[in-house]
Amino acid sequence: HRHLLGIEGLQPSEILHLLDLADEAVEVSRQVEKQKAVLRGRTQINLFFEASTRTQASFEIAGKRLGADVMNMAVASSSVKKGETLIDTAATLNAMRPDLLVVRHQSAGAVQLLARKVECSVVNAGDGQHEHPTQALLDALTMRRHKGDIGGLRIAICGDIRHSRVARSNILLLNALGARVRVVAPSTLLPSGIHNMGVDVFTNMREGLEGCDIVMMLRLQRERMSGAFVPSVREYFKYHGLDKEKLSYAKPDALVMHPGPMNRGVEIAAEVADGPQSLIKEQVEMGVAVRMAVLEALATHLPTK
Ligand code: CP
Repeated sequence: HRHLLGIEGLQPSEILHLLDLADEAVEVSRQVEKQKAVLRGRTQINLFFEASTRTQASFEIAGKRLGADVMNMAVASSSVKKGETLIDTAATLNAMRPDLLVVRHQSAGAVQLLARKVECSVVNAGDGQHEHPTQALLDALTMRRHKGDIGGLRIAICGDIRHSRVARSNILLLNALGARVRVVAPSTLLPSGIHNMGVDVFTNMREGLEGCDIVMMLRLQRERMSGAFVPSVREYFKYHGLDKEKLSYAKPDALVMHPGPMNRGVEIAAEVADGPQSLIKEQVEMGVAVRMAVLEALATHLPTK
């Protein structure tokens, strides 16, 4: 593949290859000199039309650890604000001859469209409610390093599934690797096609978490809701927020994940987020490693000298 636009279309063997490369990148990142120069002389541009802390920072660090020259486009102060279209922005950047473009955009499909207009490799860093492939890869890497084979794990993805590209990419990846995936959410926060996505659907946390190895919480994306569909925070936390009591329904050695950014006291209690079963900080470390793996894998398709 020249691009990574989604988990959809990846073979299980390709996913496992990326996870193996990411395991090696973890080792590189834990050395004093965190360098593997597979992208020396290459130019990587990070183009984020939507807010990001983890994804943008980790793609920048990942590119630099691989020796690339990394440039972060500041969209807020760019000519996008003067009305330049996505395609014109892409054509402008393309003329500067980058090798890699990492793109986040608020519209589903925008990154795919852009990839057709440029000559370099494109990585989807999140497009609307569609996909966030590197998030799913880093989640899988984190799970695999703790639980071994992902096949057969019982995994509950909980909360605002409807608005979540993280949920979509995770469902695709975890199903491809043979996990048993459940979603747990109030019915108003389930997407219409959920029953065709190969998951078991629950609306009650006690039933949904029972016997699970992994409990993955999602942020309540209030900015994507309107009117009567915005739940009250107090009620949401009471019925769907992960506190110690609800976590006790899962297996005793269950691990807790959250892609971030978290809303403490909304979808997850602080004592669970910071507790002994939480992998949330480790997910961030794995995020750098997975992005190094993806950039390295794409580098094999870049034109050589
Ligand atoms: N999980 C995630 O994508 O975080 P950011 O929005 O901070 O990049």
